[in-house]
Amino acid sequence: MYKLAPSILSADFAHLGDQIAILEENGVEWLHIDVMDGAFVPQISFGMPVIKSIRKSTKLFFDVHMMVEEPGRFTEVLKDCGADMVTVHAEACRHLDRTLQAIRNCGMKAGVVLNPATPLCALDYVMDRLDMVLLMSVNPGFGGQSYIPAVTQKIRDLRKKLDDAGRSDVPIEVDGGVNAKTVDEVLDAGAEILVAGSAVFKDDIAANVRMFHGKFAERK
Ligand code: DX5
Ligand code: ZN
Repeated sequence: MYKLAPSILSADFAHLGDQIAILEENGVEWLHIDVMDGAFVPQISFGMPVIKSIRKSTKLFFDVHMMVEEPGRFTEVLKDCGADMVTVHAEACRHLDRTLQAIRNCGMKAGVVLNPATPLCALDYVMDRLDMVLLMSVNPGFGGQSYIPAVTQKIRDLRKKLDDAGRSDVPIEVDGGVNAKTVDEVLDAGAEILVAGSAVFKDDIAANVRMFHGKFAERK
């Protein structure tokens, strides 16, 4: 039920393959891949060639977070690069419904991402197109920021909203500032998939993964 999705934005890119191997050896199943365009968010991260090349060396589930204007332009190329799930920002899509349909039609899972200040009603008319909802708990663009406390109530509200809409099957992913100090609060509120960048890749990767998996085990 619970999953850790380490964000490779905080990895050491000179040793990316080795660090992904450590994740796999320690039971991680998802990899969170942050694509930034320097327009929707202030930074540029990495793009398709990186995704394609890591796909060759790992079987991990690729959860691609598109921090890109009009991400629908990249649906087919993401499929070719080996993405399993593509999450798109409601704020970045002029035609959100069409984009979600296109992602699913390509055979990938589709998720909507909401920035901290974006209300949950952005999801109202795409409830049947969703495989996951990602709530940002920082303003997107950088790793290592602090968790925004107001998002905890938003997670609770979203869980209720999904359940009330008959979408208890849709998990909530939370991204930003998730670490040893905030993990309990995020899980208590109803998140099932936790993105963590700096809290995974700083110092001992294996020990960091064990910390998160220990938290999950306490709740099973
Ligand atoms: C932020 C990215 C995150 C980032 C999280 O814009 O979407 O995935 O890597 O980093 P931490 O876990 O360090 O807050
Ligand atoms: Zn992310």
